[in-house]
Amino acid sequence: MLDIQATMKRIEELKRERNAIILAHNYQLPEIYDIADYIGDSLELSRKAANTDADVIVFCGVHFMAETAAILAPNKTILLPSLEAGCSLADSITAEQLKEWKQEHPDAVVVMYVNTTAEVKALTDYCCTSSNAVQVVESIPKDKEILFGPDMFLGAYVQRRTGRDMHIWPGECHVHAGFREEHLQKLQKKHPNAEFILHPECGCVSQCMFMLDQGKLDSAKILSTSGMIKEVKESSADTFIIGTEVGIIERMKREAPGKTYVPLKENAVCEYMKKITLQNTLEALEQMQHVITVSDDVRIKAKQAIDRMVAIG
Ligand code: 13P
Ligand code: SF4
Repeated sequence: MLDIQATMKRIEELKRERNAIILAHNYQLPEIYDIADYIGDSLELSRKAANTDADVIVFCGVHFMAETAAILAPNKTILLPSLEAGCSLADSITAEQLKEWKQEHPDAVVVMYVNTTAEVKALTDYCCTSSNAVQVVESIPKDKEILFGPDMFLGAYVQRRTGRDMHIWPGECHVHAGFREEHLQKLQKKHPNAEFILHPECGCVSQCMFMLDQGKLDSAKILSTSGMIKEVKESSADTFIIGTEVGIIERMKREAPGKTYVPLKENAVCEYMKKITLQNTLEALEQMQHVITVSDDVRIKAKQAIDRMVAIG
């Protein structure tokens, strides 16, 4: 077992030897930020994977993100340092379930959040992420029936923002579903001048929009993880209530130091994201593991839905 500095040095050497880059999601551990070539949200990381000249992409994120990279960059080697890095939201709809849902609505357009398996994407017309879900739905002709999934809170948010009447799958992320109205109210009293920033997967997102409409909340923004980083850098506020996985606060402190960040819920931790460590990232590069591949028949169908997502917003 190497010490931290030696592990980082060895990772940098192996990156050069293998012509590899490391893409890291905003929820990764701080030491992973330090070795990453690029840190971002799902949409930004998909775009990076599609456009890089590297031969190897080490994906420090969760399985569906590495699979998306494998779909967009089939000639590159995509490595996921831990196969335990799953996603409860992606697990909330299977390809079989989507097939049955589509049979009930044969003329509907299917919009699925990118947090899904490649097999689900292959049955999807448009993928979307938290940063472009509204634009994706707005791009679909108004007379079309829409099946939206798998996140019901994101679905309710998009429905309200677009005014579209959609069928919404009742899936959720176990981390974000735990955010409730009482968390909003408690912190609103404690920090009356703070700006609220919430991820659209949050269980309290509809209440937040209702409170804004009613004038019961002065300022709140609903944003993707990278949208949140941009907001804390650009906003004139000095205190922010952060409604998402708490790991992102370290990134905020780095990108916009000197401001105060209060988690909406302190124990909101995605244990799947934290399966990625310096040690298993080193092992991934040393042993070229775990290679994530998608069969050609699934990949070609899934790519169409992802390409539409990458092109919008
Ligand atoms: P972002 O695309 O906003 O980074 O969200 C991904 C995710 O899994 C949030 O839980
Ligand atoms: Fe999946 Fe939720 Fe973790 Fe995001 S926070 S990767 S949606 S389990």
